[in-house]
Amino acid sequence: MEGVRVEGGRCRLFGEVRVPGDKSISHRAVILSSIGDGESVVRGLLWSDDVVRTVRAFGSMGVEMEGLYKEELRIKGRGLLGLREPQDVIDAGNSGTTLRLLTGLLSGQPFFSVLTGDSSLRRRPMDRVVLPLREMGAGIWGREDGRKAPLAIRGGGLKAISYRLPVASAQVKSALLLAGLYAEGITEVVEPLPSRNHTEIMLRALGAEIEVDGLTVRVRGGRAISGSTFLIPGDLSSAAFLMVAALILPDSEIVIRDVGLNPTRTGVIDVLREMGGQIGVENMRDWGGELVGDVTVRTSRLHGVRIGREYVPRTIDEFPVLCVAAAFAEGITEVSGAEELRVKESDRIATMASELARLGVKVEEKRDGLVIEGGGRLRGASCYSHGDHRVAMALYVAALGAEGTTVIEGVECVDTSFPGFFSLMEGLCRRIS
Ligand code: S3P
Repeated sequence: MEGVRVEGGRCRLFGEVRVPGDKSISHRAVILSSIGDGESVVRGLLWSDDVVRTVRAFGSMGVEMEGLYKEELRIKGRGLLGLREPQDVIDAGNSGTTLRLLTGLLSGQPFFSVLTGDSSLRRRPMDRVVLPLREMGAGIWGREDGRKAPLAIRGGGLKAISYRLPVASAQVKSALLLAGLYAEGITEVVEPLPSRNHTEIMLRALGAEIEVDGLTVRVRGGRAISGSTFLIPGDLSSAAFLMVAALILPDSEIVIRDVGLNPTRTGVIDVLREMGGQIGVENMRDWGGELVGDVTVRTSRLHGVRIGREYVPRTIDEFPVLCVAAAFAEGITEVSGAEELRVKESDRIATMASELARLGVKVEEKRDGLVIEGGGRLRGASCYSHGDHRVAMALYVAALGAEGTTVIEGVECVDTSFPGFFSLMEGLCRRIS
């Protein structure tokens, strides 16, 4: 297991950077290009472990691609029904997005396929996609009656359904919309709160018959989609680590260029501003329906806030680093209505509570969130990522602001979403003498 050693209190952040491409948009660009008609070009794809799993899955189903690991990837779409039955199990690794979105897509394919993942992914709930997809007519088998991967799928012959999601989840919504492309009739998905809408934006751009009406999305099956050129924005979920580091470290000022600012994703900016964070957004542009801008962050005096259920879908991946911001903020921060965090790459309520406690933070773990008493000094300690990329990066940010030395074990998982994270942080770091 790889570890990293961090000397706290030694640096301030300064400079201009770009972060790697958005993970959610990258997966979708590969999936939709593969089933589109004609060639697509994807610029700025995130070449992280998770996205590589999606790329390999489509390679195993006969999709030809040129430019692997390069800035520009060309994908020869095979059309809605041109995929080939994969000869082996598709291994999604740590990637919930690969596994859940492909379960939806493969439910529409008239062949047999098997999906699995690493030990963390095999612990995560899959019934949320399996149950509605079975209702549409897919044959899906899995451990614990389809609650857990590996999943075996025999697709084809789907009928449209109307489905109300019990929890806001873009992965479930997207899986059903992908299956809906193959179903007879109009598939309707209703969400309790808005989750990220990248699938809807792309499907519309590719000519699918899709309609969004408040929290309801409808897609008509049996209509081909085209190829396109995709320009992938920087990932705000990755930028969030830099943002919190710049807020808590002294005399810092950074600019992060070309960051995706889709309003379904910007909860982290709202929460950090509410905590007193000085965050500027400039140069807003539209990249194929996705908002993009430059984000400026300066050292700020933060204070505790309440983060309730209504924030959760728009902030879901940023909670580990928001917990770190809370540890450095004056007063109490209370996170509630966030039980979804327990079924992420790790149980993020438990892992953040235990690791922040090791650094000397007063944290109380609740069933659906945490209470963090901020403002005290953090002391360097020995910490563990629990194999969760976002926990590893959040702990690194905390360690930069702590007193003394922190060792974080298990940091190889950072490549899941943010290859080059440590060198990018070192490049922004100006030593305090
Ligand atoms: C994602 C949706 C979210 C998020 C995940 C990526 C996506 O998961 O946590 O990192 O790309 O659709 P849920 O849909 O389970 O909330």
